[in-house]
Amino acid sequence: MNAKIIGTGWELPAYEADNHYLSTIMDTSDEWITERTGIRKRYLAREETTTSLAAGAAKKALASSGLRAEQIDLLIVATITSDTETPSTACRIQAELGAVHAVAFDVNAACAGFLYALHVADAFIKSGIYKNALLIGAETLSKLLDWTDRSTCVLFGDGAGAAVLTAAEQGGVIAQSVGSDGSRWEALSCMGRVVHNPVCPEQAAPGFLQMNGQEVFKFAIKTVPLCIEEVLRKAELPAEEVTYFLLHQANKRIIQSVAKRLKQPEDRFPMNIDQCANTSAASLPILLAQMNEQGRLHPGDRLVLSGFGAGLTWGACVMEW
Ligand code: COA
Repeated sequence: MNAKIIGTGWELPAYEADNHYLSTIMDTSDEWITERTGIRKRYLAREETTTSLAAGAAKKALASSGLRAEQIDLLIVATITSDTETPSTACRIQAELGAVHAVAFDVNAACAGFLYALHVADAFIKSGIYKNALLIGAETLSKLLDWTDRSTCVLFGDGAGAAVLTAAEQGGVIAQSVGSDGSRWEALSCMGRVVHNPVCPEQAAPGFLQMNGQEVFKFAIKTVPLCIEEVLRKAELPAEEVTYFLLHQANKRIIQSVAKRLKQPEDRFPMNIDQCANTSAASLPILLAQMNEQGRLHPGDRLVLSGFGAGLTWGACVMEW
């Protein structure tokens, strides 16, 4: 049995902040951001939270799958911006949906989080332990950003995407390849709470997201093509037979570089980065759900999904739609 996606959904905050708006609050310009990243605008949460965005996307994914919440056995939320340190966002979504039979937990793998969640769900479904899974990538990254650091804050946005998977005899996930390199964790990090107790009363404020942009860029353009080549080998699928390569939407130039290294035309690398910016774990499921809604995915299509992010983490998956 393979894990097959049977429903998708996405949710974005109501507020749209375009590059022109950012240029009124910091020393940046639409030209710089568009040329270096391909981003034109991002959605920023005001009323919304990671939980509310996740719930919105999940409800749409469930509705499009035809399953009821009680039929979900496994509920995973990929996020680095949970509203609560504990419980997990997944437990709160379980309560909101009434997914009473699900085991629910979060996965923290930054922008590769949805791929990691897919890896876990596929293993559980293949082994026969669970049949129906709801995977959500949800973030309000804007709350981790230093809005005086123009080199990082212009890159990210908030949002959520979700997918319902079920055990299927045909199609679905064919091969996966995921990896981590913790030795490079400092390239992209955000410090959390520090030790604070009666024997250690010193307290520092939680940090903001910090990034070595060029190191992350180089990591992405080197690792993502290798990871995709590996997963295509495992699936015994030539790159030419892939319908779409859905890549984590971090930077248009990274996606173009990966397309070039794989020697595949750019039009098979769909993008929404101009609209949504980098929504971390939400980026892949939002792109997938939007393409599904637009009727761009058809039974039998071969999709490659690939993500990378803090950790460092990365992953790729081949699936038949
Ligand atoms: N607006 C205007 N100028 C900016 C700016 C902004 N928002 N951010 C940085 N700059 C300036 C820098 O200060 C620097 O100025 P200087 O030459 O006077 O010192 C100049 O632009 C070039 O900065 P640099 O960092 O060399 O640019 P870059 O071409 O490497 O692009 C990134 C920066 C962040 C866009 C690029 O490195 C990148 O996309 N990295 C990957 C990041 C990523 O995807 N992270 C998430 C992974 S999941």
